[in-house]
Amino acid sequence: MKLKNISLSLLLATSVATAADKVTVTLTPSADAPIINKEIYGQFAEHLGTCIYGGIWVGEDSPIPNTAGYRNDVIKAFKDLKVPVLRWPGGCFADEYHWTDGIGPRENRPRMVNSNWGGTVEDNSFGTHEFFNLCELIGCEPYLSGNVGSGTVEELAKWVEYITAEDGPQAALRKKNGREKPWRLKYLGVGNESWGCGGSFRPEHYADEYRRYQTYCRNFNGNKLFKIASGASDYDYNWTDVLMKNARNAMDGISLHYYTVKGWSGSKGSATKFSDDDYYWTLGKCLEIGDVVRRHIDIMDKYDPKRRVALLVDEWGTWWDEEPGTISGHLYQQNTMRDAMVAALSLNTFHNLTDRVKMTNIAQIANVLQSMVLTKDDKMVLTPTYYVFKMYVPHQDARLIPLTVGSAVRDVRDSRKVPVVSATASEKNGVVTISLANTDLAKSQEIEIPLDGIKATKVSGEILTSADIRDYNDFDWAEKVTLRPFDKAKINKGVLRLSLPAKSIVTLSLN
Ligand code: AHR
Repeated sequence: MKLKNISLSLLLATSVATAADKVTVTLTPSADAPIINKEIYGQFAEHLGTCIYGGIWVGEDSPIPNTAGYRNDVIKAFKDLKVPVLRWPGGCFADEYHWTDGIGPRENRPRMVNSNWGGTVEDNSFGTHEFFNLCELIGCEPYLSGNVGSGTVEELAKWVEYITAEDGPQAALRKKNGREKPWRLKYLGVGNESWGCGGSFRPEHYADEYRRYQTYCRNFNGNKLFKIASGASDYDYNWTDVLMKNARNAMDGISLHYYTVKGWSGSKGSATKFSDDDYYWTLGKCLEIGDVVRRHIDIMDKYDPKRRVALLVDEWGTWWDEEPGTISGHLYQQNTMRDAMVAALSLNTFHNLTDRVKMTNIAQIANVLQSMVLTKDDKMVLTPTYYVFKMYVPHQDARLIPLTVGSAVRDVRDSRKVPVVSATASEKNGVVTISLANTDLAKSQEIEIPLDGIKATKVSGEILTSADIRDYNDFDWAEKVTLRPFDKAKINKGVLRLSLPAKSIVTLSLN
């Protein structure tokens, strides 16, 4: 009898779980809608663990296939992602980094202890030239994070001169080190997390220091800096208020850091072993970034109603416990289909905030938190998060198509809410791109999208999903979670219809 009951309840659970819901997505294309800044797809490379050393840079003499010291596999992966901007050298590392240690013959470069990240000895073999040449190689804009916490105004001013001046003492030094022409530098961060690892400043003091530092960061030979003040951590609205009040006229942008993390003390939870309830909680926490960003924007609007100053979410992503057996302080974490869902929901959110949010940088590009690639010796895997960024490439610099999604909303732990379906759409060069995420672990969703105002007869697509939300790619099974063609969407009489499988992300291309 007991067995019968169990099988009956299992049967019921299965039928409830597989019944599909119907969801209408309403598109409202408008020529006045904003362009999704491609810099929303920015990345972040920090001297932390094996992000730089091993992950990107192996040196010219490495047996790992490389071009001038950069891993060929990783460079190709970054190029395929069309990385628009790369932030470097930190993070917390930035405020202990002295750029003069990272120029000149590598054998003469001094070493330092990377005290933020496991006490690893940094040999400075990857420095200014290696970073700027990397940006040229992958075709992205560099974003430099300057040292305010343990540096000097003179040091930062000279770094800008070294990179961007055509003539003068710093340019002469750069030329002596092998680079004749200046590089272009647009994005300059003046400190990182200046309320914490970047100097433990009070906001009033940092606002004054920011004004002082940026004064001496000059525009040489037509280079125009876009100066970014070190901003708040998630819910610290006072930091944004004080900075906007006291320093807004001296900045082009202010940053914000928001991690999808359980908390800052104790366990952050395993990247790969989690319950369904943990999964839904994670999505709730990730989506809260929208409310947090909007509150910071409200404060900015008070001082800058014309929205001249940009908000840059220059660190975001999931933060789990380090993988067991890895070096403590290196923050190496795995990346599952859950992380992919966080990436999709976050990007969908950023698209809607694009008139103030001009850049975001997921942390970090390789081998650390929510990374694009993981490497081990000569092996590399692309993470589920990588594939979301890959699917979303057509949204870069495309015109947003505002939309509403009529889907159910799930109540999750900590009084947060998660829509069952999240979507975003854009148009570029006559191609409409629609990305849809079904957050439900069990039910598929029947999606209907009337194409009013959109001339399209053909649709093609790609899907990212996996048997288990905990699935990930590893060196012994590199393509467990990967992009596959999706041909289940059909256009009939001006309506696009598809069945969106449970725990899947689909991007459709219409023309
Ligand atoms: O991304 C890891 C660290 O998180 C960064 O170095 C720091 O800025 C933040 O606290």
